[in-house]
Amino acid sequence: MVKHTATSVVTIDRYIIEQEKLHPEATGELSAILYDLALAAKMIANKVRSAGLADILGATDNENVQGEIQQKLDVLANEIIIKALDHGGRLCAMASEEEPDIIDIPERFRCGKYCLLFDPLDGSSNIDVNVPVGTIFSVLKKVTRGSRGEMEDMLQPGRRQVAAGYVIYGSSTMLVYTTGQGAHGFTLDPSLGEFLLSHPNIRIPDTGRYLSVNDSYRDLWDEPVKGLMEYYRGAGGARQPMNTRYVGSLVADFHRNLLGGGLFAYPSNKNSPKGKLRLLYEANPLAFIVEQAGGAACDGSGRILDIQPTELHQRVPLYIGSKSDVDAATSMLGGKRPPVAGIGAVGA
Ligand code: AHG
Ligand code: MN
Ligand code: MN
Repeated sequence: MVKHTATSVVTIDRYIIEQEKLHPEATGELSAILYDLALAAKMIANKVRSAGLADILGATDNENVQGEIQQKLDVLANEIIIKALDHGGRLCAMASEEEPDIIDIPERFRCGKYCLLFDPLDGSSNIDVNVPVGTIFSVLKKVTRGSRGEMEDMLQPGRRQVAAGYVIYGSSTMLVYTTGQGAHGFTLDPSLGEFLLSHPNIRIPDTGRYLSVNDSYRDLWDEPVKGLMEYYRGAGGARQPMNTRYVGSLVADFHRNLLGGGLFAYPSNKNSPKGKLRLLYEANPLAFIVEQAGGAACDGSGRILDIQPTELHQRVPLYIGSKSDVDAATSMLGGKRPPVAGIGAVGA
């Protein structure tokens, strides 16, 4: 595993400012969004850490737009992010896994030129059993006229993201983000209440040790997917067999594979022809990060970041991680969609 070590104490706020200097045209608005997200992450971390003590474990009585029972922490994390970012004047709208439609900025607050899309709590089924969960976020620039955000602002291909990141509430709380200048990891020092740079310029190994897939759907996969999983497991000696590691939290599986090399796969299956994971606030942000770290992400027929979204909560099959392993998925699943070089293409 590539050793990521930081040599001096750098807070995330300081690093964001340094990164901002790489963009001469920067106004500081995107930086302010990242500060606010770091604050929201600390607040959610506090709730996750003490969930077992306060009455915030377990499920609510309501279902979200995904048709899933909302966990209390899903709702809490969702509210924390909305409240931390709705008044700063940098966003024109938000979209959340937990909300059916886009979230308008309240009339009493000024609008800005960015959109924030997020999965407030990823891996919710793991909360009550103390398995790592996470938060995932994606930032797009507004493309429509007028001050208020519209659905068209949200439905942009992932290559147009200006920032993306995730927080993992694990043995330590880490925040990993990119603005297109590499992927950088920060670890929360609880004694200071500060995220400190711990993993500058993360690079994912080109071939993976770990395969993260839920094999219980095996009988629902089509033959090419079954063949691909056999390949990853070393059938025919075509490659070193991968070890299976599947936490059931996308952020936790992705983070381990990002640092140590590996592939996360959530294929389409007969019951879910588009797979389970959502394009706008799960696949796209993690695809931006992994490409910035030298990895790749596809849906089996082409690059995740080139998909033109049509719905806010649309799902997408996902193969993400070490580049040579993702390339194997594209070739073995008959990757047909040609890569699309676009204006403002990120990492194209
Ligand atoms: P969320 O909790 O935000 O709905 O996401 C859960 C996702 C993802 O975190 C994880 O990889 C996947 O669901 C696990 O799904 P299965 O239980 O079907 O394997
Ligand atoms: Mn999720
Ligand atoms: Mn979620």
